[in-house]
Amino acid sequence: MNILGIETSCDDTGISIIKCKAKNEKRKAIFEVLSNIVSSQTKIHAQYGGVYPMLAKREHEKNLPIVYKTVLKKSFGQKNPQLDLIAVTNGPGLEPCLWQGINFAKKLSKQLKIPAIPVNHIEAHIFANFISKAKNEKRKAKMFPAIALIVSGGHTQLILIKKFGKYKILGETLDDAAGECFDKTARVLGLSYPGGPAIEACASKAKNRGPSSVGLPRPMINQKNYNFSFSGLKTAVLYHYQSQSPKIQKSPEYVRAMAHEIQNAAIDVFLAKTFKAAQEYRVKSIILGGGVTANSQLRKRFKQQAKKSKIKLFVPDKKYSTDNAVMVAITGYFNWLKTKEKIPKSIEAKANLRLK
Ligand code: KG4
Ligand code: ZN
Repeated sequence: MNILGIETSCDDTGISIIKCKAKNEKRKAIFEVLSNIVSSQTKIHAQYGGVYPMLAKREHEKNLPIVYKTVLKKSFGQKNPQLDLIAVTNGPGLEPCLWQGINFAKKLSKQLKIPAIPVNHIEAHIFANFISKAKNEKRKAKMFPAIALIVSGGHTQLILIKKFGKYKILGETLDDAAGECFDKTARVLGLSYPGGPAIEACASKAKNRGPSSVGLPRPMINQKNYNFSFSGLKTAVLYHYQSQSPKIQKSPEYVRAMAHEIQNAAIDVFLAKTFKAAQEYRVKSIILGGGVTANSQLRKRFKQQAKKSKIKLFVPDKKYSTDNAVMVAITGYFNWLKTKEKIPKSIEAKANLRLK
């Protein structure tokens, strides 16, 4: 079956078409990506240093029909398009943006006479790990129970996956998401938007890769719970920056050392909490997802620690760590298997949708 995925939860308009070859449905699902387009709005939001929801909504409305036409052409060329299911993100995310994708999905569903199914964006980030490799039941059995760390511009959650599709949120950020912290501190340091990739690039040029003289806090690293907090880190960066002379503030060495320390502070906390949870719940694997996990240093340190701890680590390709619609289409497939006869009649945007 061919599945159309639609993602508009934040500032990326994503549409993809995947072909799902499944001999006996769940057992050996193999996904082939026929087309995948992410139309990014970063240039538009850069001037605000963050996503401006009503602008994002307007851009989605403008982009959706154009991107849809392009993915159809890429997937089917001159042939008649054949689509069997539509999967659309209905939360969590920015409500006006979610509605754009949902309304587009509903219109297509009517027009093509095919079902549309809602997808949780966080679950989609988890399922991004099923994209490149065909994962059959055997593999899934080896994967679960698992701990998933999902870190993006809007979310920071540590999730226990008891078995395929069964979730328990162990902890989450009490204030800012880690990606948001990268975006905001990058702005303080005069780096470009989005901040995550800018901080990574700048940090890689830092001379001293050892313990930093900047000394930022590792928020909540020693607390017994699995929650996170990143607003204190953001404030610490701001105060440190403001206490420097204008000459130092502008010096590349200072900015690089800061970027390096911000990145390390966040990674230290992620590593400590994730591996502690992995140990406590005796899981078979750790799963990463979300834009921040595109960070090379984060990937490297998780790989090293996983090897040491003899635990399997699943990380999506970088292009599938950040928002995309392939992960939405795949999640839609598994939702469809679960609900089939009971596909919800109406889909609603849920800004604070939570995994269950
Ligand atoms: O998952 P995502 O694409 O969108 C949301 O669901 O929010 O994540 C976007 C976030 C942004 O905050 C961006 O700065 C961060 O992911 N990000 C990174 C990197 N690439 C994107 N953070 C650190 N290092 C990166 N290489
Ligand atoms: Zn995301």
